[in-house]
Order: sequence, then C-alpha cells, then structure tokens
Amino acid sequence: MTAAKTPATAEKAGSRIPNFFRMDIATRIDALRERTALSEDEFGALQDGTHTLKLHAADKMIENVVGVIGLPLGVGLNFLIDGRDVIVPLSVEEPSIVAGLSGAARTARASGGYVTEVDDPILIGQVQAVDVPDVSRARRGLRRRKAQIIELANSLHPNMVARGGGVRDIEVHVHRAPIGGRDKAPRREMVVLHLLVDTRDAMGANVVNGMCEAVAGLVEEITGGTVFLRILSNLTDRALVRARVRIPTAALAFREFSGEAVRDGIVLASDLAQVDPYRATTHNKGIMNGVDAVALATGNDFRAIEAGAHAFAARSGKYRGLARWSVNDAGDLTGEIEMPMKVGTVGGSLESNPTVRLSHRVLGNPNAAELASVMGAVGLAQNYAALRALSTAGIQRNHMTLHARSVASTAGVPEEMFDEVVQALIEDGDIKQAKAHEIVARKSAPASQSSASESGAGHATEAPSAASGTVILLGEPSLVDGAVLAAPIPLAVEAQALDGTDGAQLLMSRWGVEQQRVPRANEQPKGPVGMVARALERLGLADRDVMIEVSPHIPRALGLGSVSALGVSVIVALARHFGLKLTAEEVGALAADCARAVYGSASDVGNALATHDRTMLYRGAGKGGAEFDAVSLPKPLPLVIGLAGRRQEKKQANALARAKQQRQRNPSPYNAIFRELESLAKAGADSVRKGDFVALGDLMNICHGYLNALQASTKELEELVDVSRQYGAAGARLLMDDAGGGGVVAVCPTGTDRTVAAIEAAGYQAFAFEVPGGR
Ligand code: MEV
Repeated sequence: MTAAKTPATAEKAGSRIPNFFRMDIATRIDALRERTALSEDEFGALQDGTHTLKLHAADKMIENVVGVIGLPLGVGLNFLIDGRDVIVPLSVEEPSIVAGLSGAARTARASGGYVTEVDDPILIGQVQAVDVPDVSRARRGLRRRKAQIIELANSLHPNMVARGGGVRDIEVHVHRAPIGGRDKAPRREMVVLHLLVDTRDAMGANVVNGMCEAVAGLVEEITGGTVFLRILSNLTDRALVRARVRIPTAALAFREFSGEAVRDGIVLASDLAQVDPYRATTHNKGIMNGVDAVALATGNDFRAIEAGAHAFAARSGKYRGLARWSVNDAGDLTGEIEMPMKVGTVGGSLESNPTVRLSHRVLGNPNAAELASVMGAVGLAQNYAALRALSTAGIQRNHMTLHARSVASTAGVPEEMFDEVVQALIEDGDIKQAKAHEIVARKSAPASQSSASESGAGHATEAPSAASGTVILLGEPSLVDGAVLAAPIPLAVEAQALDGTDGAQLLMSRWGVEQQRVPRANEQPKGPVGMVARALERLGLADRDVMIEVSPHIPRALGLGSVSALGVSVIVALARHFGLKLTAEEVGALAADCARAVYGSASDVGNALATHDRTMLYRGAGKGGAEFDAVSLPKPLPLVIGLAGRRQEKKQANALARAKQQRQRNPSPYNAIFRELESLAKAGADSVRKGDFVALGDLMNICHGYLNALQASTKELEELVDVSRQYGAAGARLLMDDAGGGGVVAVCPTGTDRTVAAIEAAGYQAFAFEVPGGR
C-alpha cells in the first residue's frame, strides 16, 4: 500500500482560479497554460479546438467507424489532495457536476483538503479449470508449483517485471456451481486459479489476459482438468483507493441553513445509503459522476471501473454506499470513501487520442497511483456536493442557481452586483439575459446618477476607446516593401481608463492577463502589461492611480495587428481620461514606440490602421517614409478569418526565412513574384473602390497561389482556403505571421455564415466581420 503522492501540477499558481467560470473559453485556456505543464502545441490545439480525436485515428481504434462524438471537457478547480494543488480534467455531459466538484473542493481545501491512500496496482487474472478429477489434489498441486506458474507468466513481460511489476502471488479458489445456473440442479466443481498481477502504470488488461492464456497448459498439467476461461477480473478489490476529508461545521452554513443542519442532513443521507440499496445505487451513481468524468478525460476504461465499484459496493452481500459521512468528536463533518480504482497512465488511448494526452498534462503527468488518488478524492467530493444539495435546497434549486449564474455571466453583469442579480433572477423565475439587463439597469440607475454629479468631470462614465486590428487582403508586408492592401478589423481592442486608488492596475478579459498591478517600465515587463507600462511612462503618467480595463475581441499574436490595436486603444483611453491632447500621428508613433520597446519591432501597417481605421493601400517605410492612400468602400465588405492556430508558428517562420534566402540566391523569379504581389494589391484597391468584391476574391486567390509558390503555405492553411472557397467565399488567401500563428482571410460577398460554419465544422476557429462601407 502507498500513501499516494499526488501529481506535481498547478504549482505555479495553485488550483484556485477566481472567476474562472465567468471567463471566455480562450481566457480560461490561457489561465490553464500558466498553471499546467501543457506544451505550446497542446495549448495551441486547445485554443483552436483542433485537439480532438481525428477520424483516421478513430478508424484504427474500433470497427465500422463513421465519425467521432464530442463531449465537453472542463476542469475541476480548487482540489488540494495530500497537500498538493491539482487541476482535474473532467469530461461529462451533465450540468452541475463540474461546478459541484469545484465547490466541494473549495470548501475542503480550507480544512486541509483530501487525504488519500492507494493500494498497489494489482489486477487479478482468472484461469478456470473444469473436469478436474481430484479437486483437493489440484489445489495442493497449484500451490506447490506456485513459483513455476509465476515464473512462466512473468517470462512474457520481462520489462514489466524489471519495473517492479509482474505476478506477485497466486490464489486457488474452488467453486461448486449449479449446472445451468439453476439452484436445484446438480453441482459441478471447478478450480479457479487467480494470478495477482502488479501492472504498474498500465491498465493491464492485455498483460493479464496474455498471462492467463500462457499458464493454461501448465494449469491443465497440474490439475488434470481442462482449462476453460482465461481472463482478468474487473472486481479489482486489491487495488483500492481510500480518501478522507474533514469539514468544520461552521464551513457548512449555506443560505438559510445552519452549519449543523447541513452536517446532520449529510449524515442522515449517508446513513440511508448504508441500509437501503435503492438509495445506495443513486448515492453511488453520484460518486461515479465524478469518477467517470476523470476516467473519460484520461482515457481509462470507465465500464471496468463502474463494474468494479458496484461489485465492491455489494461485497457484504448487501449493496451499500461507497462513501459515508459522520461527525467526529470535535463536531466536524468527516467523510470517507473506499473503492476499487484500477487505472492506467500509459498505453491505450493515451497514445492515440490527443485530448487524453492533454488531460494527463493538465494533471501533471501522474502515475497510476497518483491518478487513482485524484479519482478517489473526486468521488468523495462529488458525493459531498450531491448530499449537500439534497439536504438543503434540493437538486432542482441548485440547477437553477447554476443556470442563473451562467445567464448573469453571459449578460455581462458587473462583479459588484453579480450575486444580487443571480438571486433576483431566481426569485423572479424568469432566468433570461434580458431580465438580467433589466435588473442591472434598475439597480444601477440611482447609483450612477449620484456618482456622475459627484465626480463632476464624469471620468468613470467615459465610453471605451476602440482601435482596429489589421488584415492584409493583398500583398505581403513581411516579404515585400511595395504596396499592400490592408483593411481594418473594427473594434479589435477596447480600452477604458477609470479612476483608480492603488497605482496603475490592468484588468484584461483575454490574452491571459486577468487583473494585475502595472509595474514600472524600467522593470521591463513583457506582453500587454509591458505595453501599458510603457504607455504610462511615455505619457508621464507612471505615478498616477488608474484602473485600465482592456477588452480584446481578436486573438493575439496571429498577425492581425493586435499589438498595435492594444497600444492605440490604451493610449487614447489614457489621453481621454487625463485630458491630454494628442494627434492621430502622435498616438501611432507612441504605440509603435511601446511595441518596439516590448516586442523588439512594430508593425507600421498595423499602427497606421489602428490609428486611422481606414482601408488603405499602404507602402512600407522606404526612403521617403511610409505612404498610404485611403481606399473608400461604396458598401460594407464582409470578411471571414479562419485560424489555423499556433502550430503554424514554426512552419511559417521557416517559410519566411526560406523565401528571403532564396530571393538572395536566385533574385529573378522571386523578384517577379514580389512585383506581381504588389500589382495585385493595386488592382485590388480598384476593385474595392468599385465595390466589386468578387473581383477582389479572384485577386486574393491569385495572391494565395504566389504565396504558396514561396512555400509559405501549410496543410492546415490549404484546408482552410479550400473550405472557404467551397462554402461561400469568392476568394481566400493565407495570412503570413512570423510572430506565431497563421490563418486565412476570405471575402464572402453573399454573407459570411456558411463560411464560418464550414470552417468550424472542419475543426478550426473562425470569426466574421464587416469593414464598414460609405467612407
Ligand atoms: C445525479 O446525477 C446524481 C445524484 O442523484 C446523486 C445523489 O443523489 O447522491 C444527485
């Protein structure tokens, strides 16, 4: 038996991530990246939604494959198991389970979390011998020749033996089974040999089945009978996990329920599960809600775990609850669970399913004992969450609360009135976003009137400053000094500066920042915080108290001008808040300055679009400085951006370097392509001015062909271009991104919905927008 050492994960910032459920998915993934061992590739795959099982891999797993099925993957937070923080991946379709687990773990961590113990990972293999002439002699013979049986079985798996696994012992059981299963029928004796196999980190089914088959001949020789079944047993009662938790009564108080009432209710519910199989079955189903969700996420055989759990629950001859709750001498609630937990962390779908691999990383790549310990703690936590809900407001009320929280979150209800609005929604019974907005308006009306009259200047109510991102429709600024045609992505980043109290603070809803104090620029902070620190310093505001709220609406680092949009929106918001007068050129120059200080370079075209918010034919900074001609659109231009994700990074960065080298070695054909790219940009500006977006699409297709000739495309980008053209786009081209990422832009004159849906169905992310017309 081992006291399990839980995975060394989530160490950087723990498994508590406040307001996780309110973040958008991209921000949640960002938060995980900082707290888990996810690789760049896995992080990128999660961000683009391409981490799931591929059809060709599924086809190798089972027969007659026609597709793959999706299930949500969430994470259980707040888990403290044997003193370590663990973020738990959970795959399950039923609402309330993930929230219930995270809530239970949060309560438990305040009193030390879960304490676990795990037995050695023993799986039993059964070899059934029938028609045995002398059962007693057979039993003695098998015991006498134990060493020979073990040696033969272990000879099949020398590596497992070398790792400390293999057959540990044997047992011999004799049964007298009624023939045909009828109680009154004559009985037939059978001898069943058990191999007790330590399968280390493997689930071990194949290992044990193979061993049972290998010793069959020897068993026949020893017993003089005929060997029939040779198969593992799913009653894995030698590989048990035990988990315990203690919760002080005071921590149990909940709404109108006192701590004592909740405690006694949980004990009462638990007591029923020990005497009544009808209740015990539901009690255990709740436990398996948590256990199976981890099993699915980690690629374990949940049917085997279920079968073992229920057989174990009935081991006394009566089916009972697997977890029980009581009150200790100090009056605290204590819970314990004991159940079989034979799981694996190597082999199986871990090798073939990328989501399973990713879940193991989130857990910190545990070994089998560590995973079993997490699953035991999760089973106990889920039982607590269910019993607490049942013995207080009831399950339905709990569901309603969760639903109301999710509606309030989607409606953007501000933090300070969140709980109040959730409560009001539940009381009203009309849990809808419109209702949430109405309640917010009602509650905030008197407050905002008075603060506006008190503050006079009304700083706190300033509208956010928005800056555009950039999409390059034609030409390629990373390769060509000549003209490119670029369009703005409206409202790419919004920023707002508000009165602060505690130096400069940055609150960001995406890109992995959350809330953070802004350090001084001389501390060289990186990323978005670095940009804000530089902007404050350059504007002479480094000593001021200010809260800067930034809401990005485009992904970062995908060549879409996110850095420029961030710089410009923050500078404009600060200038407005502090009453500074800056021209558009000054804002652009300052944003470029900040980007160079933080990222080492700035995008001229990105800055031009972020400051001027116009479609333009842009000519890079040559001898005479940058030039641009604004291009007016007679009508809105509908565009879709499809994201291939960060895994493009290396491929595209290499392509850029290669194209530059090849141009030096063999200038003539490359220069011809670069000239063509420039002339396409000029022709495209004419098409846009005429509102001929079909012609623009043709030119984008040709541009894509040239970029492909420069080897700047990848398999994923080709798929994105192809899907876009097949589903509604008049043309599409790849986007170059030497900073990491990659994607395509498609022009969709007849509407963007079909193209977005087709890109998403192909497993990528996409978003649509219109470049405004009439200017
Ligand atoms: C629902 O999936 C699970 C519960 O019924 C478990 C229980 O009753 O303990 C809530």
